[in-house]
Amino acid sequence: KKVVLAYSGGLDTSIILKWLRDTYRCEVVTFTADLGQGEELEPARKKAEMMGIKQIFIEDLREEFVRDYVFPMFRANALYEGAYLLGTSIARPLIAKRQIEIAREVGADAVAHGATGKGNDQVRFELGYYANNPDIKIIAPWREWDLTSRSRLIEYAEKNQIPVPKDKRGEAPFSQDANLLHISSEGKVLEDPWAEPDYDLILSRMVTPMAAPDTPTEITIDFDKGDPVAVNGEALSPATLLAKLNALGGANGIGCIDIVENRFVGMKSRGVYETPGGTVLQHARRAIESITLDRGAAHQKDALMPQYAEMVYNGFWFAPEREMLQAAIDAASAPVCGTVRMKLYKGNVIITGRKSPNSIYNEAVVTFEEDSVYDQHDAEGFIRLNALRLRLLGKVRKGA
Ligand code: ARG
Ligand code: SIN
Repeated sequence: KKVVLAYSGGLDTSIILKWLRDTYRCEVVTFTADLGQGEELEPARKKAEMMGIKQIFIEDLREEFVRDYVFPMFRANALYEGAYLLGTSIARPLIAKRQIEIAREVGADAVAHGATGKGNDQVRFELGYYANNPDIKIIAPWREWDLTSRSRLIEYAEKNQIPVPKDKRGEAPFSQDANLLHISSEGKVLEDPWAEPDYDLILSRMVTPMAAPDTPTEITIDFDKGDPVAVNGEALSPATLLAKLNALGGANGIGCIDIVENRFVGMKSRGVYETPGGTVLQHARRAIESITLDRGAAHQKDALMPQYAEMVYNGFWFAPEREMLQAAIDAASAPVCGTVRMKLYKGNVIITGRKSPNSIYNEAVVTFEEDSVYDQHDAEGFIRLNALRLRLLGKVRKGA
């Protein structure tokens, strides 16, 4: 028996590693993905080696993450419940897919993850596992073991020679998840939705708008077929582009939100999200779409968006309904090319210009000056026909 564990190298997944071996008497293969969380991965290798793991997979998935997951999702302008840019949600399917591939490579019959039984992540991981291998066996230690308190976990770690970092001895003040798109913070001191977050403690990728510089940073982003391809005229790969926007947006206090959201499993959850680059990108996309998308296509995209966002949030990335919407969105995105210019200033993205070889915006049509393409007399009939049903209704309502 062999199990592939999604291993971060942290305390919790190290305990899971040991627990899996003791409970299932199985060989454990570890898989650690670099999704741009900003942590060294070599310590995870050392730790796994120290614990006697023979097959250790450590992989840099940053480009694949941004190119094949983040960017397609951004083409949809996806926002969950009007606010959340889905930074954690979009990372899970990739981890799940790769974990199943590794299981196949090493001949493992099971996979394991470190998500609790109360959240969204367990659903996302496991839907991803089943979609990529219908017969896989899944182990979710948090739903099985009796290490239900921090003190029991620490005790278990110490009994099993798992090093416990000093700052992990007490309760961590909140739980975080990080990748190139975002850092989320939830739980513990953040559970009271009235208590203001301690941003000095939370923020690691950005400053608050209050602490941001008094002078704006002007930048441009170039788009090609719906995806950003360059910043300030410099062509960048997907992951380096997002990292660059994180730095620019973060320095100007852009992209921090404090929200209460509805989890798929039914409960509400309060979270703080840092998404500087993603937030800049979201504004820039809207600006380039505003001149390159026809109204009908743009409105249809907007109508599909909440459903798309919910599919990603709930973990249905590999489901046919998400692929259907993606195909429609991708088809609409073909003309989305051009350049957006903006100022980043104290938490705001202020669009200052947009241009595109595919622009539908026509100055000859919009002008208030004389023009030859638009006959103002046409508007009279247009309005009278649109008013017909309102007038018929108006007569009936007056009679009532
Ligand atoms: N609430 C967010 C989501 O469901 C963030 C989850 C954070 N996960 C974590 N393991 N800390 O997407
Ligand atoms: C967890 O429960 O493991 C993290 C939070 C979530 O998945 O929603």
